[in-house]
Order: sequence, then C-alpha cells, then structure tokens
Amino acid sequence: MILEFNPANLADCAQRLKNDDLVAVPTETVYGLAGNSLSEAAVRKIFSVKGRPLIDPLICHFFSAADAFAHVFENPSAEQLAAAFWPGPLTLVLPKRSTIPDLVTAGLPSAAIRVPAHSALRELLKHLDFPLAAPSANPFGYVSPTRPEHVYQTLGNKIAAILDGGACQHGIESTIIDLRDVKAPRILRPGPIPAETIADVLRMPVRPHSEHTSSENTGQSAPGMLSRHYSPKAKIKLRAFGQITEKEIFSFSEPRAALILSSKPRAIAQIPNHVFWLSEAPNMDEVAQNLFHLIQSCDAQGYEQLIVEQSPNDGIGLAINDRLQRAAAE
Ligand code: TXA
Ligand code: MG
Repeated sequence: MILEFNPANLADCAQRLKNDDLVAVPTETVYGLAGNSLSEAAVRKIFSVKGRPLIDPLICHFFSAADAFAHVFENPSAEQLAAAFWPGPLTLVLPKRSTIPDLVTAGLPSAAIRVPAHSALRELLKHLDFPLAAPSANPFGYVSPTRPEHVYQTLGNKIAAILDGGACQHGIESTIIDLRDVKAPRILRPGPIPAETIADVLRMPVRPHSEHTSSENTGQSAPGMLSRHYSPKAKIKLRAFGQITEKEIFSFSEPRAALILSSKPRAIAQIPNHVFWLSEAPNMDEVAQNLFHLIQSCDAQGYEQLIVEQSPNDGIGLAINDRLQRAAAE
C-alpha cells in the first residue's frame, strides 16, 4: 500500500501507471494523485477517486522542460521561468496543443504544466513515456496531503499504491502563473515561489493574486480556486500575525479547541495542552511545511475548532494566508 522507494516498487508503480491505474506520488509541494495524462481512462479515474468536478482542470507533470514544451505553445517568458525554477514548485499556464486531452484541461484551450523536483517522482517520470496528470491526492475540498499517511487515511480504500517520498519539502501547492499573455503575467495561485522573485527573473511586473477581482474568476483564472477549499472537519478561526497575547496563550482552555501559533511561544514556561506551533523559531518556510500536517493531525485528534495565527503578508506568507483563508471560509 505505502511503497518504500526502491527499484522494485518503482517498476511496480510504473507498470500500474502504464495500465491506466493511479498511483499517489510525492512531490516537493504536496502528494499528487497521478495517472497517465494522455489516457482518458486514467484521467477519468483521477476525477472519480478524488470526487472532483470535471470542470476543474489538472496539472500535467513532466520530466523536463523540453518534454513539457512539446505539449504547449511556449513563449520567451515561459523559457526564462523554466530555466530559473524547474525542476521546482512553479506551474505555468500556456495555450495547449491537441496532444493533451480536453478532459485534462476541463475543455480549456490552455494547460497547466510543471516539472517537479522530488527525486522519487523524477525517477518515476524517467521510466514513463507519458506525462502524469496529478491533482493533490486528497478528497475534493479537503486539506492537501504532505505525508504518505495523509493519503492513506483519506484515499487508502480507493487507490492501490502510494509511493513513499517522506514529508514534502514545501508543504503547500506550487505557485501557478498565467503566461498566456507574454506581456502581462499574473499569479493565479500564490505558492512557494513569490511573485516578486518571478518578476525579478522576467524583469517585468507580475500581477499578484491579491489584485484579482472576483469578476475575473472566470475560465481564465484557476477554476479550482474556490473560496471554500482546503477545509478540515474542524472549524477554523483566523487571527492576525502577532496578535495573540502571552496572557491569552497562558490561559487558553476552550473546550475541544486548539490554538495554533506560527512559532513556539518563548516566554511561557508551562505551555497549556491544546496549544501547538508551526515552527520553532519564527520561520515561514517551516510554517508552510508543517501547516497541513498539523491541521490534519488536529482533525484526527477530534478538535472541533482551530484558532490559527496567520503569517506576515509577504513571501511565502501570502500563500500560507491564502490557504488559511480558504480553509476558514464558511
Ligand atoms: O503543487 C502542486 O501544484 C500540486 C502537486 C501535486 O503538483 N498539485 C495541485 O493540483 O495542487 P490541484 O489539482 O490540487 O490544483 C491545480 C490547480 C487548480 O486550482 C486548477 O484549477 C488549476 O491548477 N489549473 C489547472 N489547469 C489550469 C488551466 N489550464 N488554467 C488555469 N488554471 C488551471
Ligand atoms: Mg488541490
């Protein structure tokens, strides 16, 4: 079920994928539910196992930029970003070629492509002569998995193989950038690579996700970016970064509720039960890494309410807060 990463299991996973079966695979962002992107039968299984509506398109994962660009119409910006960030947590949206089935892109004329960095997945892609369509390996609407156990707990009865790649390095999903208009790149989903870093490489402004208006949420923005998403069973209440006082932490005792801080409280000797933290020293990369794991572990422990401290609104903090706001949406 959870398969250790070794040559025999890798061959087993490759064979399943060639047979149009699904395999949950590690990436450097979150675990993906992978199937052959070029096979309609495999892609249909992805939507059905995830319970995902067919209007929500999938990302295709490739071994190399050359492989990826064979299926889209690339432009100089795409080439620059691929050279700077691939393999890595960046997804490019570009006009698609007819080789990618319409089912994968939910009928859109564009495709979302990325070259992932996780060594186990790269090894698997090397054994295949087709790209892998892979959404995050969680039931539709639930928190994304960042460890093999998370996949096992939610989809274990529906898929036969989970390739173990350990805990994911980034812990939140890739940054998605729309490059269809080469002069006006814009972020569709904030992620581990911030807009400013991309703008530095392109030497042009990149429209951040926060500037989108809701009227733009049509087919051209990421259709899966529903405002309610990433939702655990527990209700999430958000607090601004740095606004939770020591006194509040010290006296925290709400029934069936957990308090989740962005870093370990320093000044308190006896930290009450039900108080958790996402990083030791304040460190936003570590917060991102631990975020979905801590939320799922609180869900498993039966907490009914999570009071979560947000991150500062810059860099990867924007992506963390984006996921938290969606998780908290009613
Ligand atoms: O880090 C990631 O990106 C992970 C790992 C597994 O690679 N994948 C992931 O996939 O987060 P998923 O399906 O959970 O989210 C993909 C997002 C959705 O919001 C979808 O709407 C958007 O990508 N998307 C896919 N194709 C698109 C397209 N042609 N145009 C705009 N958005 C697209
Ligand atoms: Mg997802």
